[in-house]
Amino acid sequence: MSQKITAAITSIGGYVPEDKLTNADLMKMVDTNEEWIRTRTGIEERRIQKTRGKATSDMCAEAVRELCQKRGISPEEIDCLIVGTVTPDMFFPSTANLVCDKVGAKNAWGFDLAAACSGFLYSLTTGTALIESGRCRKVVVVGSDKMSSIVDYSDRTTCIIFGDGAGAVLLEPNTEGFGVLDSILRSDGTGAHYLHMKAGGSLKPASFETVAAKQHFIYQEGQAVFKFAVKGMADVSAELLEKNNLSGEDIAWLVPHQANKRIIDATAKRMGLSHDKVMINIDRYGNTTSGTIPLCLWDWENQLKKGDNLVFAAFGGGFTWGATLVKWAYDGHYDSQLAHR
Ligand code: UT7
Repeated sequence: MSQKITAAITSIGGYVPEDKLTNADLMKMVDTNEEWIRTRTGIEERRIQKTRGKATSDMCAEAVRELCQKRGISPEEIDCLIVGTVTPDMFFPSTANLVCDKVGAKNAWGFDLAAACSGFLYSLTTGTALIESGRCRKVVVVGSDKMSSIVDYSDRTTCIIFGDGAGAVLLEPNTEGFGVLDSILRSDGTGAHYLHMKAGGSLKPASFETVAAKQHFIYQEGQAVFKFAVKGMADVSAELLEKNNLSGEDIAWLVPHQANKRIIDATAKRMGLSHDKVMINIDRYGNTTSGTIPLCLWDWENQLKKGDNLVFAAFGGGFTWGATLVKWAYDGHYDSQLAHR
């Protein structure tokens, strides 16, 4: 009988730009205050990619280079590269194409996947299927957004939330039961109304009028999204635990999308998890959309242990949402024993 192949995460890379945008900086730009931002969102500062000519693909490339270097592989060994993003460098070619060129992944094919804040989870589930089927042996899944390119910095309800960044994971086949074990993904297009970009697509192509009306920025009805997010992320995470006969005690880490600290706290509470089991870096990076979950893994990699059960959870534009169960495949920063390629 053949052994079941799972998709193990075997390396992580990340990148955040150097430039910081603090709450104090925002107070000079819009009518807000540090305390409101901190208590309503948990955010203290975000990273912004200010360098002219640098885009999402450049942040992805940095993350992918680090991931390859840590794993000791050449980018030429990558079979497929998926980029979860809603801020591609351009409509086409895909950001994945550009990243492959930048890092020298000459043997890879790839594509972008747009699922807003659930972009990383959707991409991870897709990459997992490519590994489980035996079609690919090395799949890189990147989550990255340059949110500063679509934020209206005169709108205080959105400009305080978002930041730029990229995180990437490498998926490889495993026959010992490590890796992505289950995933529940959901979508509901009726939610598009509450969170979207009005123009620039085929519905309303860019024109002088759309630019003048500021329709190339994020439009969000924050309070409505908040309500859906709290329920959606908590419900799907609890459902994932139940489906796998697990309770909060079995989970080493919750790795939540970083949209608002209050949404994260509600999800952790529903799962019966104490705060020390929840990865939170929203204070330093804000909401990087597809980047949040892999950037948490990047920050916490040294604390992860082989066999840890992790739950990744997200909610975002679409609406899209979901939760993924992962059995972590290596100890600490990097386990050279995994390098048996
Ligand atoms: O990641 C993708 C999915 N997105 C999310 O999950 C975001 C979900 N939504 C949120 O995180 C929150 O709704 C926000 C952080 C966007 C807003 O927080 P809120 O607690 O829902 O605020 P609100 O919109 O209900 O506004 C409360 C008050 C209002 O004043 P009044 O009408 O009560 O006098 C706003 O005008 O806060 C005011 N306000 C601000 N005050 C200072 C709104 N933005 C600001 C601001 N600074 N930046």
